[in-house]
Amino acid sequence: MEHSDRTKVAILGAGRGGRALLDLLHHIPSIEIVGIADRNPAAPGLQRAHELQVPVTANVPDLIGNHGVNLILDVTGDPEMETYLHAHKPPTTNILSGSASRLLWKLIQHESKLEAELLQSEKLAGIGSFAAGIAHDINNPLQLILGLAENLTEERDLTAVHEQARDIIEAVKRTSAICRDLTRYSRRASPHEDVPVSVNGKLDEALKIARYASSFHDIEMLKQYQPGATVKGNPDELLHVLVNLITNAVHAMERGGGTLTIETTVHDGQVDVRISDTGCGIAPDSIHEIFEPFFTTKAPGKGTGLGLYNVKTIVNKMHGTIAVDSRIDQGTTFTLTFPNAEPAGQGSLL
Ligand SMILES: Nc1ncnc2c1ncn2[C@@H]1O[C@H](COP(=O)(O)OP(=O)(O)OP(=O)(O)O)[C@@H](O)[C@H]1O
Ligand SMILES: [Mg+2]
Repeated sequence: MEHSDRTKVAILGAGRGGRALLDLLHHIPSIEIVGIADRNPAAPGLQRAHELQVPVTANVPDLIGNHGVNLILDVTGDPEMETYLHAHKPPTTNILSGSASRLLWKLIQHESKLEAELLQSEKLAGIGSFAAGIAHDINNPLQLILGLAENLTEERDLTAVHEQARDIIEAVKRTSAICRDLTRYSRRASPHEDVPVSVNGKLDEALKIARYASSFHDIEMLKQYQPGATVKGNPDELLHVLVNLITNAVHAMERGGGTLTIETTVHDGQVDVRISDTGCGIAPDSIHEIFEPFFTTKAPGKGTGLGLYNVKTIVNKMHGTIAVDSRIDQGTTFTLTFPNAEPAGQGSLL
């Protein structure tokens, strides 16, 4: 897009409203945020502006007067600011303030709630397909427990009794680990602030979950992880992204098996995550549609077609990009690229 076509926006007020506006508007290519101002240097929107590399200032006259601003979004809630702006704004600049800017703020909140609902519904719809995998994985230790318990009713040797009791404990622990992984995955993404997340750890967690959703039978796994692949975001949402991509890859190899390759690389301040399969591939005329909501080639009732749409929404929110390369009957590679984040100081990464 031509630079001159972009609407230049200044945001006044960096409280929760200003921060939400920043988050929303900086995704839109036709909008350039020329700056954000707040008197309070600790305002949450200012920190976010630093992260997004949006200029921060305490000087309102300079911001509205010197940058060719087309639109001022005033979310200070300060009536004096409104009066000041009307008196001092350049003639061609528009202002959104007072109840109009409150309305905009409410719409944004509403939209982010809808987005969270959509993520959750798609995740819950996906969990339906886990049922068979979970039943299988829970049934195995249960059968073992049953066999051991039957033996115990007849066992007279105390050492053997103890050994079998320990086997039962291990089998119960395995069953509860399955339940713990799944309940953790199915819960709503916790709304905490973005934190550094170890991608390699999340990939392993995602592989465990994806095994319930699809059969890894006849699938060879290759993992090539580079240490230090850390990104910033919501850990639950990143897990959701990885489960979706791995599940899609495995589904694409449903007939005849193949190789699933998962690779992370860290270079030039960025982290690349590549998930490749040797499955059915994507037809060139549908490759542009796969990120559209409800686009699916799965049988009715089998897929929502929301998987990749949600993946893209989350990746964009994390300031990342997603690319796809696919050849019919040869396979598909999805590449995610994120800015490399500094790992958290002490303690483990989420
Ligand atoms: N790795 C892949 N190989 C081949 N086709 C793929 C791959 N990933 C996605 N697709 C194609 O993109 C479509 C959309 O994927 P998306 O994850 O959005 O929905 P879905 O998998 O069909 O449904 P759901 O995710 O709800 O199970 C799929 O139906 C499939 O046609
Ligand atoms: Mg999918």
